[in-house]
Amino acid sequence: MTQHQLLLIVDFGSQVTQLIARRLRELNVYCEIHAYQTLTDAAVRDMAPRAIILSGGPDSVTREGSPRAPQAVFDTGVPVFGICYGQQVMMQQLGGRVESGHHAEYGRAFIHPAPGHNGDGIFAGLFAAGREEVWMSHGDRVTQLAPGFEVIGTSPNAPLAMIADESRGLYAVQFHPEVHHTPNGRIMLENFVRMAGFTGDWTMAGYRDEAIRRIREQVGDAKVICGLSGGVDSSVAAVLIHEAIGDQLTCVFVDHGLLRQGEAEEVVAMFRDNYNIPLIHADESDLFLGELDGVSDPETKRKIIGRLFIDVFQKHAAEVGGAEFLAQGTLYPDVIESVSFTGGPSVTIKSHHNVGGLPEKMGLKLVEPLRELFKDEVRALGRELGLPASFIGRHPFPGPGLAIRCPGEITREKLDILRKADAVFIDQIRRHGLYDDIWQAFVAILPVRTVGVMGDGRTYDFACALRAVTSVDGMTADYYPFTHEFLGETATRIINEVRGINRVTYDITSKPPGTIEWE
Ligand code: XMP
Repeated sequence: MTQHQLLLIVDFGSQVTQLIARRLRELNVYCEIHAYQTLTDAAVRDMAPRAIILSGGPDSVTREGSPRAPQAVFDTGVPVFGICYGQQVMMQQLGGRVESGHHAEYGRAFIHPAPGHNGDGIFAGLFAAGREEVWMSHGDRVTQLAPGFEVIGTSPNAPLAMIADESRGLYAVQFHPEVHHTPNGRIMLENFVRMAGFTGDWTMAGYRDEAIRRIREQVGDAKVICGLSGGVDSSVAAVLIHEAIGDQLTCVFVDHGLLRQGEAEEVVAMFRDNYNIPLIHADESDLFLGELDGVSDPETKRKIIGRLFIDVFQKHAAEVGGAEFLAQGTLYPDVIESVSFTGGPSVTIKSHHNVGGLPEKMGLKLVEPLRELFKDEVRALGRELGLPASFIGRHPFPGPGLAIRCPGEITREKLDILRKADAVFIDQIRRHGLYDDIWQAFVAILPVRTVGVMGDGRTYDFACALRAVTSVDGMTADYYPFTHEFLGETATRIINEVRGINRVTYDITSKPPGTIEWE
């Protein structure tokens, strides 16, 4: 359990609930998201939150059986902030009235101060320009306030857009303060947490010390193994755990022969040489490439790689002898049990390479020291632990590696060509100072040979595609708008420097409808 002051977010299934948590973490406030149906009155009391936020959600409180907050949310006496559906739940449960069938409102709206108010309580500092721009997204609306509440701000379509019962520390809004389209939303959240007495005790330096203490407590003097992929998450987890328990940790880095140029050397140098972390470097490229020989179906490729990875990891982990724990770089977005329209958990794309199925198979317990962190916090923790900035800022790299950037059959020849072309593309991006503006960039080698002319000779070589996208979380993406000069220069360099490629294309597909990887 965390020892920080806690803010509880009750999730009613809004698409943007995670943003509330991110905004709060930016304010150095520790918060946890819990789906409304997992919370009981006793659970809320046991958590002893210092304040509670009720999220938005897709349902209508006027529908019978629609979600409600545990009554303890309002009975424990801590400040509560209701957002959108959260506002309607608050009104419904405290004696107000909500109606559906009014004009639904989505998008930008402007809130004006109600007569006699000019921003009080958590709304202090607003209305400097006479009105506040906000992002609305609701079908129902509150038509009668619960006893004790008054209106602070109003819009033509949402007369009760900002409401408060100052004496009880209850606040609610009909819009979303957590999204960027509500420019001063952060002020409201900041006022709320300051008023609730949060001292900003959630910092990465503090978290590091606390995580180390917890790892020591959990593990005792047992051995831990950690599968390293070379990605940020498993690397930060490994360095943190090593700080906590030293050589009780052994890392296993499986080289499946599908890594990028210089990647294996970089990972080994960092862990073994810089950090002195015991590391098994398992070169299993013959095994993987052997089993992938002649396979061109994308799903079959993934299944083979996944199966072999588990076998190989298990084999090498046995060398450690008697490990009781498996470390994983699981992040908070993978853990949150969100509520979707259908009531099931919402879909999450996992960008880290999980050692799926291993804990049960090997009878191992899990150590997951990043379970409470968002990706940007993991990067901050990595900096705190002294990992090189170049390593922390690396683009994500998928578990199946170059296999899914080599449509069709995988051969060593194609992989060699691909590695070289990829290295030139990344070098170009770095030289032009674009690396940090891009979420992910790579080359895919296409299963097509095309005719070209070089010098006086005819060539018949592979075509490749450059892929570079911007994205926030990998779930949606846009292609990166390189200049024509950049693309021309890169194509020339690849064709001149990489034997085996005589044609370069640029993939300008967004996601959706495309995916980032080619397979
Ligand atoms: P797609 O291609 O689905 O990729 O748009 C979204 C993000 O996920 C990464 N990715 C994977 N990561 N194992 C991983 O660890 C996988 O099997 C896998 N497939 C895709 C991809 O690189 C991108 O960042």
